[in-house]
Amino acid sequence: MKRLGQIGKAFHRRGAKNAEEAQREAPNLCAASANLCASAVEKGFGSLMPKFVRLGIVLVVSVLGLAAQTEKLPGPEQPIPFSHKLHVGGQGLKCATCHKNPDPGERMGLASAAMCMQCHEEVKTDSLAIQKLAGFAKDKREIKWRRVYEIPSYVFFSHRVHLEAGSTCVTCHGEVKELEQMYKAKEINMASCMNCHQANKASTDCNYCHEKMN
Ligand code: HEC
Ligand code: HEC
Ligand code: HEC
Ligand code: HEC
Ligand code: HEC
Repeated sequence: MKRLGQIGKAFHRRGAKNAEEAQREAPNLCAASANLCASAVEKGFGSLMPKFVRLGIVLVVSVLGLAAQTEKLPGPEQPIPFSHKLHVGGQGLKCATCHKNPDPGERMGLASAAMCMQCHEEVKTDSLAIQKLAGFAKDKREIKWRRVYEIPSYVFFSHRVHLEAGSTCVTCHGEVKELEQMYKAKEINMASCMNCHQANKASTDCNYCHEKMN
């Protein structure tokens, strides 16, 4: 109990700075006494402790739990842990199954939860991730995937034009079929656009990619 109090105080001191920092500090604080924290929570000592101690312990235990579960993959964590490796590499699905390039062809678009459910009504229904997915589909909510490749809206870009000119997905996005979690495998910026345009004798006029700038 005494040690728990100390952990709590230390956490409180640091926790006072800000939530993000507290999260970063939490594993260090509890690394030495993870069992202690966990067992205290189990035994319901929580009710005897000041509120901030309990808050700290819940945070610490959940951070530890997460760290143990998932090694850190590159790229943003997504609302549902979608793996291209599993679906494209493993199941052999085509990119176009989920990325359709609707008219006028600028965007590739993303599959809706309802589309995913065509398989997942049956496949892996015991998985928590799939149950979450099913929730989105049922309520017709849009999944807020975190974007990986995104350019500012003042730049013109059309997928279709580039695909018709012979570029492939790999040219700009790398070997997506090998990714367990999407990340920016290839830099996309003005220099990389320009390099390819120069190499392919496509225009590098400012107005080709930008609205007229005065
Ligand atoms: C010439 C480079 C290039 C090629 C080739 C390319 N992409 Fe992209 N892709 C981009 C850029 C640039 C963006 C960001 C567009 C934006 O933010 O407006 C992007 C965005 C995306 C997105 C996010 C949705 C969107 O449209 O913004 C998806 C999905 C995507 N690409 C899939 C693909 C697939 C699948 C292929 C192959 C069929 C492909 N891309 C080929 C450059 C490329
Ligand atoms: C053509 C069928 C098909 C489609 C479409 C499909 N999946 Fe899957 N998905 C699978 C299969 C098969 C597995 C692997 C099951 C296994 O491990 O045995 C899987 C596994 C998963 C898993 C891992 C579940 C777990 O806990 O192991 C997630 C998450 C997932 N899919 C999400 C999605 C999302 C999101 C979409 C839509 C963008 C989607 N899937 C579309 C067939 C599909
Ligand atoms: C089963 C459906 C499915 C298939 C098949 C699939 N994707 Fe995706 N793709 C997704 C989903 C869902 C996301 C959003 C979550 C994420 O980023 O992992 C995504 C995201 C992406 C993005 C990042 C878009 C951005 O800017 O945030 C790219 C690039 C991409 N896919 C390319 C491809 C390519 C190339 C292929 C074929 C080799 C492919 N995808 C096949 C479902 C799919
Ligand atoms: C892999 C090489 C390659 C890359 C990378 C590339 N481009 Fe292109 N782009 C081309 C080629 C080739 C053309 C000419 C197509 C034609 O005229 O048929 C083109 C044409 C265009 C056009 C004219 C399209 C139209 O609507 O007529 C724009 C705008 C453009 N690219 C913007 C970009 C931007 C922005 C990027 C970076 C995000 C980029 N490109 C990256 C090869 C590339
Ligand atoms: C082939 C396409 C292409 C051409 C041609 C092009 N740009 Fe860009 N430009 C881009 C892209 C893509 C970005 C966004 C870069 C990013 O987000 O990293 C950009 C960004 C910019 C920015 C904002 C930079 C910043 O750091 O905020 C300026 C300014 C700019 N371009 C000016 C120009 C000028 C001037 C020219 C003519 C000499 C030109 N661009 C030609 C694609 C192009």
